[in-house]
Amino acid sequence: MFQDTDKEALLQAFTEGAFVSANLTSPTAEACDAVADMPGLSKIEFKPVTVRKRALVQLSYQQKARNVHRNVEHQEACKVLCELLLSAFNKGVVHTRTADLLLRRKGTDILVNIVPLRKSTAPIAAEEALHNRVKHRILPEGKPVDFLIRLGVMTTDGKVVAAKYDKYRQINRFLEMVDDVWPALQTIATANSDRPLRIIDFGSGKSYLTFALHHFLKHIRGANVRVTGLDIKQDVIEDCSRIAADLACEDLDFQVGDIAGFQAETADMVVSLHACDTATDDALQKAVGWQAAVILAVPCCQHELYKQLHNSVNQPLLKHGVLKERATALLTDAIRAEWLEISGYKVQVMEFIETAHTPKNLLIRAVRTSDTRPKSDKPLREFCDFWGAQPHLLNK
Ligand SMILES: C[S@@+](CC[C@H](N)C(=O)[O-])C[C@H]1O[C@@H](n2cnc3c(N)ncnc32)[C@H](O)[C@@H]1O
Repeated sequence: MFQDTDKEALLQAFTEGAFVSANLTSPTAEACDAVADMPGLSKIEFKPVTVRKRALVQLSYQQKARNVHRNVEHQEACKVLCELLLSAFNKGVVHTRTADLLLRRKGTDILVNIVPLRKSTAPIAAEEALHNRVKHRILPEGKPVDFLIRLGVMTTDGKVVAAKYDKYRQINRFLEMVDDVWPALQTIATANSDRPLRIIDFGSGKSYLTFALHHFLKHIRGANVRVTGLDIKQDVIEDCSRIAADLACEDLDFQVGDIAGFQAETADMVVSLHACDTATDDALQKAVGWQAAVILAVPCCQHELYKQLHNSVNQPLLKHGVLKERATALLTDAIRAEWLEISGYKVQVMEFIETAHTPKNLLIRAVRTSDTRPKSDKPLREFCDFWGAQPHLLNK
């Protein structure tokens, strides 16, 4: 059950203009089969979309091997979210311009915790406007770019579509991070002028960032590239292949497959952005195996250590689910960063996007060094033993 005041708050949150995004996670045991006959359903995302000039909300039902989408009016989206939370999911969140609504099921009740964002809408808008004027973006607004238009981020006259503004900022931020490592890629390109730079994006999904990477390296830096996006979902790969063909990107291809089983002779740069749980580790292992010059990874939903950690001294941290979740995510990334250093990389862990809307914003950036002296993994193993962690990365 929802309290009336919470229902009202949710309806407000879903109003056009206020609504930013939402999701439902942690499905109940019955959910997978109960919701529209979707076995393996793990999450539902709600995002604003514009369809024939109508502002709607897109529901994306995420299953293991495919996503199913449907677009509905804002109020209908709110109704669906409430019904599904009552029947099939344990957790949810609704992001608005001014607050996050954290939703949790407790027995038959739904608890709604409203967390105001630090800044109100007006200063955000003003700050953004100022930022836009003074900040030079790699893909500036007003300058139409083919792939952004085809992906619905820009209009043909180069205006950023309001519902895609966060995506536009994310793409630019990502390209800034790629630009920082361009000197390392340039060195490889110069030393291997007879072949293209080989770039693999693991878990490419809808591939906004894959297209951005391809565009940046090829058209802005003028590099000879061969980019592959890999994803386990056939439908997204078919969509992306169609878009690449429409844009005549002959040196960009998309393949269906599991990261762990992917074979390639070599790779100069490996990207893995928001690939789920240990898929990030599979990507890192592949990259290190190829001795890729550059690795960019933004990890996502780290569940592996959550089940493993046992350490009585750390009970004050581990006994609270939310603290344990954050602690295990940080530990997982610390282990990954350390493992990359031992494997011969200079590693930085940095914030990917400054958005208040996702905690999944750490980027691990690794650039291969010329120091080939072997490094002991003993201190890292001791660190793992201390926490009772047996990470996938060290066990393979
Ligand atoms: C959250 S999406 C991220 C998409 C894109 N990289 C981005 O950041 O916008 C994660 C993608 O990783 C894919 N994925 C997860 N595990 C995978 C695996 N083991 N092999 C290949 N793809 C995987 C999922 O199918 C999904 O499309």
